[in-house]
Amino acid sequence: MNIMLAYFSATGNTQKIANVIQKKLVEEGINVTKLDITSKSSREKDVAVNQYDAFFFGFPIYSMRAPRVCREWLQKISGRGKKCSVFFTYGGFGKDPAHYYMKELLDKQNLKLVSTAEFLGAHTFNRSGWKAAEQRPNKQDFEIAQDYTIKTIQRFYGQDLNELKDFNKPMFSSSQLDQAEKYRFHIITKLPTRDNNSCSMCKLCEKICPTNAMDYVKGTANHDSCIACFRCIANCPDRVLHTNDLSNTWSKKLELHKTTKEEIDNLVSRIYL
Ligand SMILES: Cc1cc2nc3c(=O)[nH]c(=O)nc-3n(C[C@H](O)[C@H](O)[C@H](O)COP(=O)(O)O)c2cc1C
Ligand code: SF4
Ligand code: SF4
Repeated sequence: MNIMLAYFSATGNTQKIANVIQKKLVEEGINVTKLDITSKSSREKDVAVNQYDAFFFGFPIYSMRAPRVCREWLQKISGRGKKCSVFFTYGGFGKDPAHYYMKELLDKQNLKLVSTAEFLGAHTFNRSGWKAAEQRPNKQDFEIAQDYTIKTIQRFYGQDLNELKDFNKPMFSSSQLDQAEKYRFHIITKLPTRDNNSCSMCKLCEKICPTNAMDYVKGTANHDSCIACFRCIANCPDRVLHTNDLSNTWSKKLELHKTTKEEIDNLVSRIYL
């Protein structure tokens, strides 16, 4: 069996889970082609669907769904009825719509979703004042990822003929989530900006930006194309890129979700079959 394992990972959590899945697939004697679609250029290449028997797709959750750029990438795939599975990493909030809307999207692309999974991952906004799931993914998450891989392979091979159970329709429509996404990108998180003009001008922030939004000479990002993924901030060797302090929104987020840091940190990763 030939499997494609495609994933988007701006700050590394989704990649860690993808690595565990890849290792397990290889141990099971499966040919696996890994495709990192974090860069814009990698998402512009066609996917040779006919070369693969099944697909794993891995995404972080942004505003309760897979990132918009990943959904747009999936919309270019014509799935020919092939089987696939999707795994998400998320920082502890509002993950259910991601599963539901992913199933809806994949149905449209003629890809048959056989399983999904969600794994805790340190929230991207921890880099600017949040404290959600700071130590994740951890050993237990990796064990769940191994189990998820085995159970999904059984569905790919047709050894487990059960069908993926329906997800509950979320209380937020897609257009409401689109609005939430617009609000968050430019109201809650401000554009990443260089503190001052003194940096080593290594160009890395511009090179690794998933949407080509960063201008390393100006030291700030394009308002329309930046997706607030914090990849530039996380990787700047001089540590001079920052966004606004999000500590206030962290306490408000906990209040809004009627939860605590401890509850978020103790959430368990989950497989859906
Ligand atoms: C723009 C943006 C929006 C996010 N929205 C959510 C969200 O709605 N719920 C959540 O639990 N985590 C959210 N996160 C956190 C990420 O899902 C989480 O940190 C993920 O593991 C990051 O994956 P990566 O390291 O592979 O990029 C968001 C992160 C970013 C950058
Ligand atoms: S990554 Fe950091 S050091 Fe390199 S050009 Fe960008 S801001 Fe400057
Ligand atoms: S400029 Fe925006 S989209 Fe690009 S890496 Fe930085 S945060 Fe991500």
